[in-house]
Amino acid sequence: MIETLSRPRTLRGELAVPGDKSITHRALILNALAAGSATVRGVARGADCRATAACLRQLGVELSEAGPETMLIGDGAGFAEPAEPLDAGNSGTTMRLLTGLLAAQPFRSFITGDDSLRRRPMDRVIEPLSRMGADIRSVAGDGRAPLEINGGRLKGIHYALPVASAQVKSAVLLAGLAAAGETVVEEPHPTRDHTERMLQAMGADIDCQPGRIAVRPGPLEAMDLTVPGDLSSAAYWLVAAALHPDAEIVVRGVGVNPTRTGIVDALVEMGADLSVEAERLAGGEPVADIRVRSSGLRGITIGGSLAVRCIDELPLLAVAAAMAQGVTEIRDAGELRVKESDRIATTAAELERMGVDIRERADGLVIRGRGRLDGARCSSHGDHRLALTLAIAGLVADGVTEIQDAEAVDVSYPEFWDDLARLAGSERVDAGSRRRAGRDRKSTRTAQR
Ligand code: S3P
Repeated sequence: MIETLSRPRTLRGELAVPGDKSITHRALILNALAAGSATVRGVARGADCRATAACLRQLGVELSEAGPETMLIGDGAGFAEPAEPLDAGNSGTTMRLLTGLLAAQPFRSFITGDDSLRRRPMDRVIEPLSRMGADIRSVAGDGRAPLEINGGRLKGIHYALPVASAQVKSAVLLAGLAAAGETVVEEPHPTRDHTERMLQAMGADIDCQPGRIAVRPGPLEAMDLTVPGDLSSAAYWLVAAALHPDAEIVVRGVGVNPTRTGIVDALVEMGADLSVEAERLAGGEPVADIRVRSSGLRGITIGGSLAVRCIDELPLLAVAAAMAQGVTEIRDAGELRVKESDRIATTAAELERMGVDIRERADGLVIRGRGRLDGARCSSHGDHRLALTLAIAGLVADGVTEIQDAEAVDVSYPEFWDDLARLAGSERVDAGSRRRAGRDRKSTRTAQR
């Protein structure tokens, strides 16, 4: 599908973004593992979380929808051997976390995914799980999916993560829940800690110290929870409001877990008029409202722990950098090369089309801001974060932007176009045309993807 965007006159309003994708995956998986039934409200409805739900159902978990954003997870009696290979779709979190869970189940399973996911490295979970005694094989022998998992008895290990990855950390911790003895994971930089918080709340035997998490086997108790809004989805509006000349947006009820707030810190350092309001705790996670107004931004350097804390927002920050004054350097972000697309290459290629002076580095990007973007024909490369990033670029660029394969947004934010229409209002962007709300209502569908 091709979407066409141009700059609306204003971007104003309040909204609640979809539930946090990372927390939704974990709420479904951990409650499926726990004793007792649970109700999870505010679940993310994107394709990634639906893939996790579908895999769990294939494993015999009773999982039903009790409303558009509410899931009931039954009090199951363990997992059953799946008749068919599990399909994680586009979702690395689904594949890596479920591999950790399946490593200890007494049956054989296969897990695969779409073209993008089958290109991504899975040896990073195969390696530590094998050290725990798991029998996991990359079917093609290249460290990638499909994976064959022959679950069995595991033993605890002490594992220092070679790269900062919450997915790998979580896979090892999930396996550790069923392994003999203690499992310890050390991380080079703090990564999102939703798994640890939820395990603590569900009664696991877990000890969390800065940079070191230890878990011992034991049962979990199911837990009802309401998933906070996804800061990674809110981020698009935070940046849109900062960059648009006539904007004020408030995102309500968004998760502000400090392992995720790199985007807020980076925008504030760039000079954004941003405030975090009404901070509170909900379901063991900090939540707040975030307000952003039109701002003049300046370039900054993003690296080290800050880069890890906004890893999924770095393509979007490249758009902010292009609209800022001065140079922005993004480094220590080589992980971007193994996301849904090689986000260093795809971000550079697409923003270059929009007239941005952007250079690739092995582990990042250098952007020379010139305070403007030119509308262009772009492609999402099938990557949801790139599609969303280019949509925000199109909302602040001069002229018209076309995004090919824009349906990729459905992976994490299917409600995006509706939210955009509300924030941009219904005023016509150019008199006489059918374009409204910064977006051509008539999206053209290409004959084939
Ligand atoms: C995620 C962890 C991160 C992030 C991804 C979601 C998670 O990946 O990029 O979007 O839910 O654990 P890595 O663990 O590969 O860094």
